[in-house]
Amino acid sequence: MGKKSRTLRFINDVLEIVQNLNDTQIEVNMYTADQLNINNCKGCINCFLKGKCVLDNMDDMKRIKEEILSSDIVVFASPVYAHHVSGDMKVFIDRISYWAHLVRLSGKVGIAVATSGGNGLDLTTNYLYKIMSYMGIKVVGKFGVEAYEINDGYNGTVEDCAKLILEYLHDKPIESDEVLESVFRVTKNMIELAREYKTAEYEYWDEMGLLKCNSFEEVLKMVK
Ligand SMILES: Cc1cc2nc3c(=O)[nH]c(=O)nc-3n(C[C@H](O)[C@H](O)[C@H](O)COP(=O)(O)O)c2cc1C
Repeated sequence: MGKKSRTLRFINDVLEIVQNLNDTQIEVNMYTADQLNINNCKGCINCFLKGKCVLDNMDDMKRIKEEILSSDIVVFASPVYAHHVSGDMKVFIDRISYWAHLVRLSGKVGIAVATSGGNGLDLTTNYLYKIMSYMGIKVVGKFGVEAYEINDGYNGTVEDCAKLILEYLHDKPIESDEVLESVFRVTKNMIELAREYKTAEYEYWDEMGLLKCNSFEEVLKMVK
């Protein structure tokens, strides 16, 4: 994703509206593939078993993860490549995929964005929606943008995306939904089955009080 990226342009246009309509300066951390060094996951599963990625000290992921954890709103945006996210986005997601076992981003709001030449938008935004939900993010919007719209005022998409961000910046309450409840039930069940192995995942759920929660709604109340 370079300087001419249409996806980046969409995001910058959204941010410009948000900034213009917001009273105070918002802090934005933007990550684009051309500015980052992110290594491919090696498949060692250390992250799932020990809660740490052995590559984090060798590239930019440690910093990115810390910044995501301290943020309120998370936007995952990717061009559609062969009906899916770009390779760069997939490598990034692989590196945080263990967060999907931890509902690690519970309490955050998210938006999924994809741009394409005309197809693959639903598949790509639905994938981003799913993976973000598994991480505990309340996904409040999915935006599939066809490249021609970017040069043609976006058909209102950019304003809709900006409006959503503004609502949550102004403390719109985060509500649970069917997807998050289902993610929570399935993941909690999986974690409880691993109780005897005392994995980092199990310990995280225990220490964070997640095992005591009976619904994702309770998790949201706890992390507020
Ligand atoms: C390798 C590659 C694969 C692509 N695959 C698709 C595709 O499956 N469907 C589609 O509609 N557009 C496809 N496109 C077009 C891009 O999705 C589209 O131009 C997008 O807006 C590019 O975003 P960017 O400028 O941020 O990279 C592809 C482009 C590339 C470079």
